[in-house]
Amino acid sequence: MDLAAATAGDHDELFAAFSRIVDAGEGFPQAPPLDRAEFDDYWLVHAAAVVVAREHGRLAGAYYLKANFVGRAAHIANAGYFVVAECRGSGIGRALVEHSMGEARRLGFDALLFNLVFESNPARRLYESLGFAVVGRVPRAVDGEDALVYWRQL
Ligand SMILES: CC(C)(COP(=O)(O)OP(=O)(O)OC[C@H]1O[C@@H](n2cnc3c(N)ncnc32)[C@H](O)[C@@H]1OP(=O)(O)O)[C@@H](O)C(=O)NCCC(=O)NCCS
Repeated sequence: MDLAAATAGDHDELFAAFSRIVDAGEGFPQAPPLDRAEFDDYWLVHAAAVVVAREHGRLAGAYYLKANFVGRAAHIANAGYFVVAECRGSGIGRALVEHSMGEARRLGFDALLFNLVFESNPARRLYESLGFAVVGRVPRAVDGEDALVYWRQL
């Protein structure tokens, strides 16, 4: 598995893969169908880094990293991760989160905050195993389901 900064040549594939995540209602609040402008704004325009994971050349997953806030709170990063369904359960998600923590530090962030982790999301176990703590709960955030706010100092 290779991890590399996304280039313009990755963007169409990334859009298609993330659209499938949104269509399946997995882990992100976007309502399907996702349009390209929405994808660009969420994944690319504000990103400090976008990293893609490839296995034998095929897109396996990705993450974005961006400032969660402006100004004096811009030291806190936000990130979003996905692994394509066929590639799950083999450690790619963990590798992406660990890599993003290093990248965030390298880019000068000193904390990482996940704003809206659905209560039922299996990613919670991954985040908790990497030292992220629940610092908040958003009642009925998405389709009546609560979401948790996770934070970790870097
Ligand atoms: C969350 C996601 C990125 C995990 O990717 P993955 O490659 O399957 O994750 P890994 O194989 O690295 O698993 C890491 C840990 O996550 C947990 N985990 C992942 N999927 C799980 C599942 N379906 N059920 C239970 N635990 C799970 C396990 O604790 C696992 O621990 P281990 O490393 O000790 O085995 C992937 O399921 C995904 O893309 N989901 C849809 C998008 C999403 O929800 N993104 C997160 C938004 S907050």
